[in-house]
Amino acid sequence: MSSSKTSSAILIRGGRVVDPSRSADALSDVLLDGGVIAEVAAPGKLDAAAKKVRAEFLEADGCVVAPGFIDLHVHLREPGQTHKETIRTGTMAAAAGGFTTVCAMPNTTPVNDTPEWSRWMQDPERGASVRLLPVPAATVGSMGEKLTDYAALKKAGAIAVSDDGKPILEDKIMRACLVAAAKLGLPVSQHAEDTRLTGGCSMHAGDVSFRLGLRGMTIEAESQIVERDIRLLEEIERKEKLRPHLHVQHVSTLKALEAIRAAKKRGLHVTCEVAPHHFALTDEAVFTSAKMNPPLRPESERQACIAALLDGTVDAIATDHAPHAHHEKNVEFERAPNGITGLETALGLALRLLHSQYGMPLEKVLALLTNGPASVFSLTGLGTLKKGASADVCVFDAGKVWAFDAERSLSMSKNTPFHDHAMQGQILWTIASGRVVYSAK
Ligand code: DOR
Ligand code: ZN
Repeated sequence: MSSSKTSSAILIRGGRVVDPSRSADALSDVLLDGGVIAEVAAPGKLDAAAKKVRAEFLEADGCVVAPGFIDLHVHLREPGQTHKETIRTGTMAAAAGGFTTVCAMPNTTPVNDTPEWSRWMQDPERGASVRLLPVPAATVGSMGEKLTDYAALKKAGAIAVSDDGKPILEDKIMRACLVAAAKLGLPVSQHAEDTRLTGGCSMHAGDVSFRLGLRGMTIEAESQIVERDIRLLEEIERKEKLRPHLHVQHVSTLKALEAIRAAKKRGLHVTCEVAPHHFALTDEAVFTSAKMNPPLRPESERQACIAALLDGTVDAIATDHAPHAHHEKNVEFERAPNGITGLETALGLALRLLHSQYGMPLEKVLALLTNGPASVFSLTGLGTLKKGASADVCVFDAGKVWAFDAERSLSMSKNTPFHDHAMQGQILWTIASGRVVYSAK
């Protein structure tokens, strides 16, 4: 976050404060001062305190005031792929989507596998408008062979390690990775895909891929890695007396969700995230900009994701924001790179589908975007409006239904399948560390 611009005091007045970390849902005022939450109190109660610190006022009547959102999984493309996105533009899109913290995956050029690159990404020079937390590679060059230096990476700000997109296949290496990370209290964030089974595949293996004559990725290519990783957790707990933490990224199948649900019941430290596109779309929506990995699945798998979101198996909604340039995406389907942008459509899809269509309470939707992800990566003082927490807030009109216009996205890339799709909930202000980083007006 740019530290050159200092935050001033702000009083957010008259909004409906929904803060899942405190089970709070009430009309309240929120005073931000010195980059932290100074106080949350009944309407009118903070006027005198606000005057004292010469606070600016934000009128939030009729709006929801929530902790700023946290995205455990984004690709910001820096270093090295700045024709797709930069840390500056990616975090502008984040702010427009209500996110105040984003966790940046390491598949950059070069791969972020060092403390130097992790620090470079967090340098104020990058111009991030929200907090960037690096998730560096678990193995050197994400090659799945030699572990990176987790202690040094943690010191440089890493909050997890991951070889996202290039899952660790060798049992021995994954075991060593889980052990080394457990010793430092770092989660291992795994993209679950047995890439030995998915070579040359460009979508889900099912009726649609059959009709199109495309090679497809099976459900087992995802679930088998999750099951293997869970077996490793059990073995490590038993033999090493350690408590490794496996975080499963963008789960898209019932089988993987069932394995995670059962592992959680057995008390293992497993967490997982689901991406909005996996609860919003199916493989029927396959066209170039709807190509991503894991792929869109059939309706039964989409329903399994929704059920797992509703029953608490899923800890967080994460976007897997994956920008690609138009010329890269605008090619034959099989040749197009995987990935869609997602930061500006996450809330809109979650409210329209999970809340309005499937009845998930607003507080639960927000938990999946705030204290849920915060607890997955142990981000203390984030994802909450508790006194003293970072002044990260988003204010939105929860009832507003609108159509997403990809051309107006603040991301450098426009590769979204959600152009013209209905969204519910419009972000009005995003405040990160006490600074207004997005304003709809
Ligand atoms: O859809 C995806 N895009 N999945 C990945 O695993 C990688 C990501 C990217 O970097 O574009
Ligand atoms: Zn990813």
